[in-house]
Amino acid sequence: MSTDQKIDFDKMAEYYTMSSRTLMRWRDDKPQKFELMLDEYNSHQNTEAKQEQSRAEVVVVANFKGGVGKSTMSENYAVFLGDAAILNLDFSQPSAEINSCDTYDYAKYIEKYSIQDLINELSSKYKYIVIDTPGEVTPEVYEALKLTRKIIIPMTIGKRAREKTEITLKTFFGNGTELDEGEYKIYFLFNIVRNGVKKEVAITRFQEMYKNFVSAEGIILKSKLGSLDYSDAISTTEEEGKSIFKLAEENKQAYRTIFGKIHKVCTQIENHFEG
Ligand SMILES: Nc1ncnc2c1ncn2[C@@H]1O[C@H](COP(=O)(O)OP(=O)(O)OP(=O)(O)O)[C@@H](O)[C@H]1O
Ligand SMILES: [Mg+2]
Repeated sequence: MSTDQKIDFDKMAEYYTMSSRTLMRWRDDKPQKFELMLDEYNSHQNTEAKQEQSRAEVVVVANFKGGVGKSTMSENYAVFLGDAAILNLDFSQPSAEINSCDTYDYAKYIEKYSIQDLINELSSKYKYIVIDTPGEVTPEVYEALKLTRKIIIPMTIGKRAREKTEITLKTFFGNGTELDEGEYKIYFLFNIVRNGVKKEVAITRFQEMYKNFVSAEGIILKSKLGSLDYSDAISTTEEEGKSIFKLAEENKQAYRTIFGKIHKVCTQIENHFEG
């Protein structure tokens, strides 16, 4: 033990529910025991400090179905929130170069940081971290899910997407998984809804699947369902590396419609999560 280390005996005594006097006596009479206690106390203090640092709100965007709009929605929502960055856990599709908002490809940081540590770092710069995920279960996706209660699940209309969404829910919250306790808020988004598609039928089928899932698992989830139309303008945002919010600003005529719809969806998501 370094002799010049300042020890707050009162706090340490509180941690061990003993008197600070006894502690001080042990320091002199039982130095080895005291040193062990001090080590444990210090490491506990460090963990607490780390957890306190982690102030950014985390939102995870996930679905094991590919191409449903996870990356697109991550970006739109992050831009909508403003003070936000994306943490991309999809190693096969780096997006820092493509996205119009600050994006961190976790592949570049994995050697140095756990997801929790990276989020702690980013928390000093951003109020929100939106986590984009790959279309499969990876240890990183699980780690991310443990850091939040807020999940956006984009999906498309159709049987295959519904089945994959059900698999996603079972993988996250099914019996025996680590996440089956507590109260999660989920925003489901029917994305890329094309003109003329019978949305009502899709909604009914989705709700049946969801109801069965929830009652079979006996879990608490607060969910909301929204939808977003197909729009050619979304490809322009990708090609130009500009958000729809930016494009709408530059050329109101062409992008106003989809901008309005995305804005509405993002507002609904925010209200659902904050409410
Ligand atoms: N509302 C929409 N209208 C039109 N195109 C869309 C819409 N949403 C997403 N797209 C397009 O669909 C494609 C897939 O979207 P995106 O890459 O966001 O999906 P993903 O779920 O991240 O896919 P992956 O599983 O491969 O990561 C992209 O080309 C994107 O531009
Ligand atoms: Mg993606």
